[in-house]
Amino acid sequence: VGFVAYEDKALIGKVEGRIRSQFQGEGSGHDWYHIDRVRNTALAIASNEEGADLSIVELAALLHDVADWKFNQGDAKAGSRVAMKLLTELGAGENAKTRVCKIIDEVSFKGEGVNTAPTSLEGGIVQDADRLDAIGAIGIARAFAYGGSKGREMYDPDKKPVHHKTFEDYKAGQSTTVNHFYEKLLILKDRMNTKTGKKMAEERDIFMRDYLERFLDEWKGKR
Ligand code: ADP
Ligand code: NI
Repeated sequence: VGFVAYEDKALIGKVEGRIRSQFQGEGSGHDWYHIDRVRNTALAIASNEEGADLSIVELAALLHDVADWKFNQGDAKAGSRVAMKLLTELGAGENAKTRVCKIIDEVSFKGEGVNTAPTSLEGGIVQDADRLDAIGAIGIARAFAYGGSKGREMYDPDKKPVHHKTFEDYKAGQSTTVNHFYEKLLILKDRMNTKTGKKMAEERDIFMRDYLERFLDEWKGKR
């Protein structure tokens, strides 16, 4: 089990306070409790991974959605820019700032055909935790909440899922929420970085597949 230095704890507490007030009451599934779940899951995964730096994991988890491209005109660098500014203001060291910002740059899903494997152990852990929150019972709820917030249709049987080859294609997409399961959520279990993450993802994935089967059966009046 790793060790978190006193000065890191103070910094983490300050970051948590800022993020909590920024995300309180958000309605698209990117609320404070998403951030808090990602932090807790990331720390739980990290406790099973040899050598993970827990301060970096916790800071990156707290900051991973601070300025998500989905809410910043598709700007994939907005998150690390805002995080760098906040960490500087709160007095973080250079090493922590660089490592955390790199994780934020690498965390997001960018389409089925785009390799988004993180380059650090801590990045892999935070990405797994974020992706776990996009699948399973909570993932289903978040997908419909996000879809609604963007004015997307829940489902249209005439629209087929798209296999996005580039981030540009993925960004431009206006998928129905049910298609989003096929374009992203059902792919995640095969892209987990850690053993613990993969195990949790498998169970959540089965639940999502059962849910979709039931959704489509009810749609056709079969159940
Ligand atoms: P990521 O950084 O991998 O995109 P986030 O933590 O920002 O992950 O969460 C993305 C959330 O938004 C997920 O729960 C996902 O289901 C939802 N989402 C993204 N795009 C869509 C979409 N087109 N339709 C429905 N939900 C979506
Ligand atoms: Ni997230």
